[in-house]
Amino acid sequence: MTQDEMKKAAAEAALAYVEAGSIIGIGTGSTANHFIDLLAGMKSKIEATVASSLASAERLQKHGIRVLDLNEAGQLALYVDGADESNYQLQLIKGGGAALTREKIVAGASDQFVCIADGSKLVEVLGQFPLPIEVIPMARELVAREIVKLGGKPVVRPNCITDNGNLIIDVQGLAITDASSLESQLNQIPGIVTNGLFALRPADVLILGTPTGIQTLT
Ligand code: 5RP
Repeated sequence: MTQDEMKKAAAEAALAYVEAGSIIGIGTGSTANHFIDLLAGMKSKIEATVASSLASAERLQKHGIRVLDLNEAGQLALYVDGADESNYQLQLIKGGGAALTREKIVAGASDQFVCIADGSKLVEVLGQFPLPIEVIPMARELVAREIVKLGGKPVVRPNCITDNGNLIIDVQGLAITDASSLESQLNQIPGIVTNGLFALRPADVLILGTPTGIQTLT
């Protein structure tokens, strides 16, 4: 089984969490894209979606799936999205696709967050994957200096402007043993819009596609 087939298998398993008549929050990335494509097969059963990126909104609309603004949709029952890493507490690193801010907003507006990934994303300690941080452009160097003080190595992602018009700084070299504290600490640095730790609001369910089948953690 390829990594992509495992992502697709996880996405397929997440369809079981979709309730008829509901509005579903949709993540961003290759695993979320599988979910979107599979959701198209049952689009008449759902009311609408809320997308976490312009790319996902476009893909949903191409399938003829209705996309609402979050402000119109209100509280959502379900959010389905991928991740770059998850630990066993279902705390995540996200933002590899630069959509972390809208992803955190839609996850925060959802009762249940179902994370879908291939098995390679499950780790003991977060931080092998560089932590993405969305930064207001004028704060780039300030944020970089603060990151160095925390022991990380900041690298501005080349040729990347987020859907919100900001930069992404990827932070290498952090072994994240207390993800909630680091998430809170990063939230205090002026100029950081969002950091890619989803620890204060972790996933509720993690569905992993593995070579031996689906593994579900709660
Ligand atoms: C985008 C994300 C994605 O969920 C994350 O990068 C995983 O992507 P993929 O499903 O392509 O492995 O956080 O900002």
